[in-house]
Amino acid sequence: MDQQYIKEHKIGVPYEGFAEFTRKVAAEGVVLLKNDKNVLPLQKGEKVSLFGRAQINYYRTGTGSGGSVNVLYTSNIVEGLRTKKDVELNENLVSVYEEWIKENPFDDGGRAWAAEPHCQKEMPVTDELAKEAAKHSDKAIVIIGRNAGEDKDNTPGEGSFLLQQEEINTLETVTKYFDKVVVMLNVSNIINMSWAEDERFKDRIQSIIYVWEGGIEGGNAVADVLVGDVTPCGKLTDTIAYQLEDYPSHENYGDADVNLYREDVYVGYRYFETFAPEKVQYEFGFGLSYTTFETSTNAQVIVDKDSQSTIKLQVAVKNTGATYAGKESVQVYVEAPQGKLGQPAKKLVTFAKTKVLAPSEEQNLVIEFKVADLASYDDSGVTGHKSCMVLEAGEYGIYVGSSVRNCVRVAFKTSTGDKTGYVVDELEVVAQLQEALSPIKEFTRMKPGKRLDNGAYELTYEAVPTRSYSMKDRIEKNLPPTYPQTGNKGITLRDVADKKATMEEFIAQLTTAELATIVRGEGMCNVKVTPGTAAAFGGVGDSLFGYGIPLGCAADGPSGIRMEGGYKATQVPIGTLLAATWDAELIEEMYVFEGKELLRNEVDTLLGPGMNIRRHPLNGRNFEYFSEDPIITAKFATAQVKGILAGGSTGTLKHFACNNQEYRRSFVDAVVSERALREIYLKGFEVAVKEGGANSIMTTYNPLNGFWNASNYDLNTTVLRNEWGFNGIVMTDWWAKMNDPIEGGEGTATNTAAMVRSQNDLYMVVANDGAEINTWNDNTVESVKNGSLTIGELQRCAMNICEFLMHAPVFGRKQDFSSSVQFYSPMEKKVEDGEVVNIAKNNQVPMKENGNSIIEAKAGTYLLVGKVRNNKGNEAQSACKLLINGETALVMQVNGTDDKWTLIRLTRVELGDGQYEIGLSGMTDDMKIEHIEFRDIE
Ligand code: BGC
Repeated sequence: MDQQYIKEHKIGVPYEGFAEFTRKVAAEGVVLLKNDKNVLPLQKGEKVSLFGRAQINYYRTGTGSGGSVNVLYTSNIVEGLRTKKDVELNENLVSVYEEWIKENPFDDGGRAWAAEPHCQKEMPVTDELAKEAAKHSDKAIVIIGRNAGEDKDNTPGEGSFLLQQEEINTLETVTKYFDKVVVMLNVSNIINMSWAEDERFKDRIQSIIYVWEGGIEGGNAVADVLVGDVTPCGKLTDTIAYQLEDYPSHENYGDADVNLYREDVYVGYRYFETFAPEKVQYEFGFGLSYTTFETSTNAQVIVDKDSQSTIKLQVAVKNTGATYAGKESVQVYVEAPQGKLGQPAKKLVTFAKTKVLAPSEEQNLVIEFKVADLASYDDSGVTGHKSCMVLEAGEYGIYVGSSVRNCVRVAFKTSTGDKTGYVVDELEVVAQLQEALSPIKEFTRMKPGKRLDNGAYELTYEAVPTRSYSMKDRIEKNLPPTYPQTGNKGITLRDVADKKATMEEFIAQLTTAELATIVRGEGMCNVKVTPGTAAAFGGVGDSLFGYGIPLGCAADGPSGIRMEGGYKATQVPIGTLLAATWDAELIEEMYVFEGKELLRNEVDTLLGPGMNIRRHPLNGRNFEYFSEDPIITAKFATAQVKGILAGGSTGTLKHFACNNQEYRRSFVDAVVSERALREIYLKGFEVAVKEGGANSIMTTYNPLNGFWNASNYDLNTTVLRNEWGFNGIVMTDWWAKMNDPIEGGEGTATNTAAMVRSQNDLYMVVANDGAEINTWNDNTVESVKNGSLTIGELQRCAMNICEFLMHAPVFGRKQDFSSSVQFYSPMEKKVEDGEVVNIAKNNQVPMKENGNSIIEAKAGTYLLVGKVRNNKGNEAQSACKLLINGETALVMQVNGTDDKWTLIRLTRVELGDGQYEIGLSGMTDDMKIEHIEFRDIE
């Protein structure tokens, strides 16, 4: 894409109205945990002092691919509050912070991959400063900032999960002089909250509020909440326990090689409410408002028959406060009978949210769900129905309320009289499925024992059932047909779309080499698609393109479009905040804007939603995800995907599945029972496929029960396609590993035959222009030759990819790469002295750290090749811009090379006779570029 095209098509121009909408969302995801004596909202005429640098250095997002959106601006909290005329900001204190920040600038780790620290150095708050501030203000707000991200898990210590000493000092000093203190958390995920109970300042911290990271409008949104323009209505989607060690996954998290998921389905509140209620500081679903609500419920079973029945709840919610309008979420939980399987004490079934209710206003909500949604998976056969979704006999208590604890059991009206729950007389099989993905390794998992006096259950363990079928038989019995290869018969993909030929006839034309090419995505920063994006796929290479297969474009995600090189997009709040709204319709509406922005930027799929389960608070990517709960995850992923589809593009569900830690993410084996997979870790994906219409999925880096997900047959074929009916593409994560889907063994990044066999369609990514000539040196063609992969299996992936592209926005775009050479005219003014490199004599142009190089060229077309190194590992993603005469010639990807010099092919340019200035911009600390070669190709 050349600069003119980029301008003409408004690439890099954020979509109108999108930012404004994100502000509304950012405010609604705020979670108020404490608000003694109604210290918030700030009242008219009140003066407020802000402490903590995040008031200025506001975190709008987490780090890594999921956060790297180039934005036009980020509103911070100071700016947000300045627009609120009714309250007065202590500007003297703001200036003190501004001055200090000048001396102590924000440490972004040189913008290198995963290098930004978890927290920033904080300004020491002296007694004088706090005392002086207190003289002039009524209230203080202490803002704590934290960050984490991809390849950068949180750490258990100070400055990450715990407060750093300077923050504790600030709390001590500020609470000495102020008796009305608000602590605000501008964080990417929950942190330890023991300070909230600390006797030293407990009573003076009257309010605690999680504002998370709210995207570009986050600062404004925070101000909206602080002054009461918006009443907080967010709720936690995680349990905050007193200590990290309290989380059920803790002892089996963070290993380098294997993590046993021994907590099984007892993730988050499902564990705490069942076994350890005393360990909870703030419960799942909790969040306060400036007003109060009363909720009353009537329950009714619509067709009182079987699992196909619908349960209908009529919930009346009334704003019982006198001053503030607000919204309330209504949460529905089930307490299923323990039966033979064992059950969490409570499980979220569904939820809804009211509109903004004025004081005394009431709304009647109708919330419906299927009895089948209450079923569980029997992976052992203990109920007599192995591999089935079952409803065990007994009474299912249904609870409605505003958190997992603040909820009331509802009475049922049924045809056989009033009941205290939904009664299943005899075990019912809801669905007969097929054993899949079961572990090979033996281990034990949690199960409730007898009920204790305090209502909790004794914690016991049982053996997890291991795999009882032959993967070899399963794969061999289900081999797809091979369509005899015909060679080029002149059928194009357009002919298939126009129904002039079938997809099978079209695909049959491709040679084995072409089929092996189409399963390779190229990137990052492929110059043929939107600059600075993650991948180009489909029509990679001249021959595929010649068949009319377009070149699709994929970009990160999920919080906005990541375009390296400075192209701008709208950044929405982090996933944690989105889910904390408990308002899936609102998020769907916001993602319609995203879909439109994707369309404008010619991106065919956003690499998001990120939707892994927050199994443990230290996972660096928790900010991209929604919750510890699968139903929350399912609803928000579905909302995102539907919104993007409605806006005109598509979303890619990731990471499928169990990417629950960043440390050693390409190696660590997640060992999980089939039940936990189906009820917890796969649930969100299932719903987003079945109800959201998702047509693109990214697998994870890690293996699951011994098989790398990028080549996991049960995951990508048995469950995803055969059971859920998914009809779309599956791609690997970037430079992922695969192992044999039958034998297992070591994972390697070139075993694309294993990938294809499992029906993971696309390898992301090989070098740009490298797909056709197999620069990655993968084993696809060789495996067809030696008979370990069939042509039919390859054709099946090729069809999936073409089918996707036929329905993607790119199919309606004009693409022409024949004139992909950019022309540059020489500088008007010649440089007389200095070191001018004559590229006819020496085509290697040294790249200087500061300043540009001048070249003398003779007219011609040149292929640019860079000699680069990056001191990080292969998965590190860094990019910069190559400038010719100050104009962007391309965004170049310099991902990790383990600090070895490497040559990378860049782009072709046409130059006239004369001098040119060659430079770089946006270099990050991890990369070095020695020279750019100008290879004359005419
Ligand atoms: C991340 C993915 C991301 C991809 C492309 C990987 O490092 O895990 O989530 O979409 O890179 O940037």
